[in-house]
Amino acid sequence: MIEKVRWGILGTGRIAKAFAEGLKDVNNGKLVAIASRNLESAKSFAKDWNIENAFGSYLELAQSDKIDAIYIATPHTEHSNNAVMCMENRKAVLCEKPFAVNSEQVSQMIEKSRKQNILLMEGMWSRFPPLMYEVRRLIKSNEIGEVRTIHADFGFKPENDDPNGRLFNPNLAGGSLLDVGIYPISFAFMINGKPESFVSDWTRGKTGVDEQASVILKYQNGSMALLHSSIQSETSQQAFISGTEGSILIDKQCWRPQKLTLKKLNSQKEEFIEMPFTGNGFNYEAEHFGKLYLENKKESTIMPLDESLEIISFIDQIRDQWGLKYPFE
Ligand SMILES: NC(=O)c1ccc[n+]([C@@H]2O[C@H](COP(=O)([O-])OP(=O)(O)OC[C@H]3O[C@@H](n4cnc5c(N)ncnc54)[C@H](OP(=O)(O)O)[C@@H]3O)[C@@H](O)[C@H]2O)c1
Repeated sequence: MIEKVRWGILGTGRIAKAFAEGLKDVNNGKLVAIASRNLESAKSFAKDWNIENAFGSYLELAQSDKIDAIYIATPHTEHSNNAVMCMENRKAVLCEKPFAVNSEQVSQMIEKSRKQNILLMEGMWSRFPPLMYEVRRLIKSNEIGEVRTIHADFGFKPENDDPNGRLFNPNLAGGSLLDVGIYPISFAFMINGKPESFVSDWTRGKTGVDEQASVILKYQNGSMALLHSSIQSETSQQAFISGTEGSILIDKQCWRPQKLTLKKLNSQKEEFIEMPFTGNGFNYEAEHFGKLYLENKKESTIMPLDESLEIISFIDQIRDQWGLKYPFE
């Protein structure tokens, strides 16, 4: 039995570099291959990160017998094709968020994983830092009573507003919802599951994508979640869960959580809990995925496939409410 997962990274952009850095702090995996659409980019990445194998096409990476698992780090629109190709070549797949652009694509990925019996997971890295395990534990052990309200937002001001770039280009499924809105949405699903109903509104930008999005979710038991995303301005980037007995405030940046304040209504005392990262944070999802692989599991219980599908189906419904379709849909 192998002791370390042999990782390959597909794509050489910004997040590919962050993941390569994260893998340095992973005990059960090692980075052995990188692929780009351009061999020179792959070679340069391989040199910087001291990687043995550089491929000039994604297919060569998928077909390589030197790797076990592939991390997909391409723009949203490429995820489903890339993931399916990797699984067809029997490679386990950790795919960046959003898992894909819409529920049709995500369904195809899940179908492939189940048919081929291959491990697949959405790279929602926020769910894996130690503090997020603590948040789940506090809620499960009823420390704040019954959850009644969730507030969460993720907005930032991009360094450039290139209309052809990944963030603003409709052909690359740009917009705040899929890029950063998915974090508060995934957070609310993690705490409260699927809502019974919702209302939403958006700010349409010059390129036609949503530059801001706000959603109010209402659950069967009457609890609510207020979620917001923006690529026009930096928001609080905090998450707040209030229950009948107390509350949890996750500090900025709640999508890479390291600090929270727990407040109990009966004592009016505040407790500060801090769980700093070892590594850059990507190590936690990679270690979790590696453990699943080494234990021959095909799915994560922390980021289950059916939940990823529910989340993207919900995002489809939000876009339907606005009438936002990408040109390729
Ligand atoms: N978890 C997080 O915190 C986080 C943060 C940022 C982004 N992300 C996610 O990661 C994914 C990639 O984001 P990024 O910021 O790394 O993007 P990026 O810097 O633009 O890199 C994307 C890479 O994908 C490859 N690619 C393949 N087809 C492409 C196409 N049609 N247009 C442009 N590039 C293409 C390119 O690599 P080659 O040229 O080498 O083939 C490119 O370098 C997105 O889905 C995003 O949501 C996650």
